[in-house]
Amino acid sequence: MARRKLIAGNWKMNKNVDEAKALAKELINNVKGVETHDIMIAPTFVCLSEVANIIKGTNISLGAQNMHFEDSGAYTGEVSADMLLSIGVEYVILGHSERRTIFGETDEIINKKIKKAIEKGLIPVFCIGETLEEREAGKADDVVNNQTTKGLAGISEADASKVVIAYEPIWAIGTGKTATPEDADSIHNIIRNTLKSLYSDAFASNMKILYGGSMNENNADELLNKENIDGGLIGGAALVVDKFARIINYVKK
Ligand code: PGA
Repeated sequence: MARRKLIAGNWKMNKNVDEAKALAKELINNVKGVETHDIMIAPTFVCLSEVANIIKGTNISLGAQNMHFEDSGAYTGEVSADMLLSIGVEYVILGHSERRTIFGETDEIINKKIKKAIEKGLIPVFCIGETLEEREAGKADDVVNNQTTKGLAGISEADASKVVIAYEPIWAIGTGKTATPEDADSIHNIIRNTLKSLYSDAFASNMKILYGGSMNENNADELLNKENIDGGLIGGAALVVDKFARIINYVKK
């Protein structure tokens, strides 16, 4: 079964409400005809409601960049799954390397968040990826396999089938350095093998695995045409409508 691709924009801590609305409006006009794959944008929490109103009824879905694993309560500064659902959010990016490294999120925290997102009906975009040091030490495969295993710990096959994985080598994020399409494809294949041993062959071959890390309008065609790359999680280039629209309208080979 062919996996449907997902092209997702992670806006990170960029764009105020007016700018976010303008970007969403421009994007709608540039990707109107796209039907063969899914599109998602993840603005900041502050902009979610306004962007939700703009993209309602279009081919663009809404994602959040994070959420808390508890339902409600004394968690100052946090946002729950129900809150996101109440304004039309469908996806939630979890375990992004910036959350892991800057905000101290552990595999255990990310696992709790993935479980909560699934329980509530949000689609988790579960991020994994190695640092440059880990890659140079030949540990990239072990790191991503370990993150995958811990992030999905205690999650049944039926539940885990609702997850999207995003492989984002940390050394490629925001640096202009991209994994070669061959390297990315081969790591995706390794992740698929781990998923096979955790669950089943069918599960592994159905899992959507996105690539992220300096994907842009120039390298997207090569990356997105690779067998094991099922889409992209795009930061910098998602903030510029022409670039992001070009990635979404990538040329199929
Ligand atoms: P980048 O970010 O495209 O700017 O490298 C990707 C990400 O962090 O999701």
